[in-house]
Amino acid sequence: MNRLKGEGDMPGLTSFILHLASSSMNKYDEIRSIMEGHNIDLRIANIKGEEIQTFSVLKVAERAAETIAQNFQSPLIVEDTGLYVHSLYGFPASYASFVYGTLGPGGILKLLEGREDMTAEFHSAIVYAEGGKILKRFVGISEGKISKEIRGSQGFGFDPIFIPEGSERTFAEMTRTEKNLISHRSKSSKILAEWISGRRAL
Ligand code: IMP
Repeated sequence: MNRLKGEGDMPGLTSFILHLASSSMNKYDEIRSIMEGHNIDLRIANIKGEEIQTFSVLKVAERAAETIAQNFQSPLIVEDTGLYVHSLYGFPASYASFVYGTLGPGGILKLLEGREDMTAEFHSAIVYAEGGKILKRFVGISEGKISKEIRGSQGFGFDPIFIPEGSERTFAEMTRTEKNLISHRSKSSKILAEWISGRRAL
């Protein structure tokens, strides 16, 4: 095979290895499909950082990334998601994981019974660390509303009760490709991928 001199060292030709610290294959699959288009080889690492209690997913992701990066020098991201329901004063926010395991999506619908304002938003915060420290933060937001009932079988978590703005369907009634065109996580992932590509092009 003809190989250009130094080809392996050319950043444009080799893929960039990036680890996602998470145990969630759902998140991994969604972020990976964005990264693929940017020649970024996303791998999952089942490592957990310190989890702090705060409403802000960015603060949660920052602290987790800070603690993981102390023992992980290679490029790494931590992603944290929160669901903010306006008429519930933002609840469950970054506590979405606990609430998913306790009340579940059906419990959120119960809490909203009789309420007019069903608007809500998903926030996805991604924190990038390298060489033991945080270098950059990315946030993606999906605005929308909570549905009246559980609908759809795709996606995960609160997808069956979240209808993104401009759609009649819940995320769980969309394919992953459709969700990835508009979701909070695809927004944070795309700006991350563009930032990595920009750095590599320097
Ligand atoms: P985590 O703390 O970032 O792992 O996410 C909190 C919880 O939110 C998870 O347990 C999921 O149930 C839910 N979740 C995370 N991302 C999404 C999403 O894209 N759609 C719906 N639910 C999600």
